[in-house]
Amino acid sequence: MSQGDPDNLPYFNPSEERRVCFITGGNSGIGYYTVLHLYLHGYIVYLGGRSRTRVETAIKSIKEEAISRRSKFSSKQLNGRFLGDLKFLEIDLLNLQSVNKAAIEFKSREKQLHVIINNAGVMAQPYSKTMDNFEIQLQVNYVSHFLLTNKLLPLLEANDTITPRVVYLSSIGHWLCPIPVELGTQFDYRPNIIFTWFRYGLAKTAGIQFMKSLARSHPTILCFAVHPGFVMNTNLFSHFTRLPLIGFMFWVFFQIFGYIFGVSNEQGSYSTLKCVLSEELTLENDNGKYFATLGVESEPSYVARSISHGDQNWAWTVAELNKRGYSLN
Ligand SMILES: NC(=O)c1ccc[n+]([C@@H]2O[C@H](COP(=O)([O-])OP(=O)(O)OC[C@H]3O[C@@H](n4cnc5c(N)ncnc54)[C@H](OP(=O)(O)O)[C@@H]3O)[C@@H](O)[C@H]2O)c1
Repeated sequence: MSQGDPDNLPYFNPSEERRVCFITGGNSGIGYYTVLHLYLHGYIVYLGGRSRTRVETAIKSIKEEAISRRSKFSSKQLNGRFLGDLKFLEIDLLNLQSVNKAAIEFKSREKQLHVIINNAGVMAQPYSKTMDNFEIQLQVNYVSHFLLTNKLLPLLEANDTITPRVVYLSSIGHWLCPIPVELGTQFDYRPNIIFTWFRYGLAKTAGIQFMKSLARSHPTILCFAVHPGFVMNTNLFSHFTRLPLIGFMFWVFFQIFGYIFGVSNEQGSYSTLKCVLSEELTLENDNGKYFATLGVESEPSYVARSISHGDQNWAWTVAELNKRGYSLN
């Protein structure tokens, strides 16, 4: 059994205790294994994605994998372990209207929500703006998750017996934002191969600050940020690996890097799973914490920890959403 193995975490019987999770980007990479384990642990998981086909293909594959894994256990070992359920919910984080619509749709289908996992992300994208006029990495990685989470807070807070949780997939890449700059900073310089990392770092820093601010403003919700580890075989690196001619060199580099420093796609889910399932994490001792590879507690950067900068970024995000016609309630 490897470090952080989710087999050690609690299991639930959905017919006795219905636990509901909403995850963005659960159809590939780290999210795929996060969903697999939550399903094996009895969770009802809504997979928020922009492609029904990709999500439904993933749901089918996850269900098959779960059956195959369970077939290796005896009925005694399976005692107390129940499968949950998996559902598709359309959301495109590039479009705030779609995010808003997904929150409304979710509220029409569920009266309570126990966990939100803000997992979806993009990295290394060339500079461009979304239709909502945000830089693309900032919106997908952070702004849309900020809106989604805030819209679903009433459902999280509707729980009277279970402490609800919010997990944000940040990255060690957040250290690439070494000084407290405003979220509106564009870093729209060339070459992309350098400045794209500042944009990614800015968004992932904002995500950590978001979890820390939410933990302070909503102290009955457990909020965590996570660096999943270097997980080199996900689609996250596809902008570089699909480049003509040099894409193959990037792929070889990522494979070597991953072999030395990385973890598998499945191990990449362990930190998130600890934040969702561990009963050892408490509101009193752990709210707002940051966990790194395999669920090891860690310290984010000075900027990510700054309360005053986190407050400024929260206010900036609310104001920018308001300008576009989105309020938090
Ligand atoms: N891999 C690593 O080494 C690493 C390291 C640090 C942090 N992270 C973070 O971990 C998270 C998961 O990454 P991953 O490595 O598993 O990458 P991945 O395989 O590329 O998964 C990303 C997921 O996000 C979804 N997504 C992207 N844009 C979206 C949009 N506009 N609307 C809805 N969903 C969208 C993707 O859906 P589609 O299939 O529709 O594109 C996919 O399901 C990301 O937040 C990433 O920044 C990863």
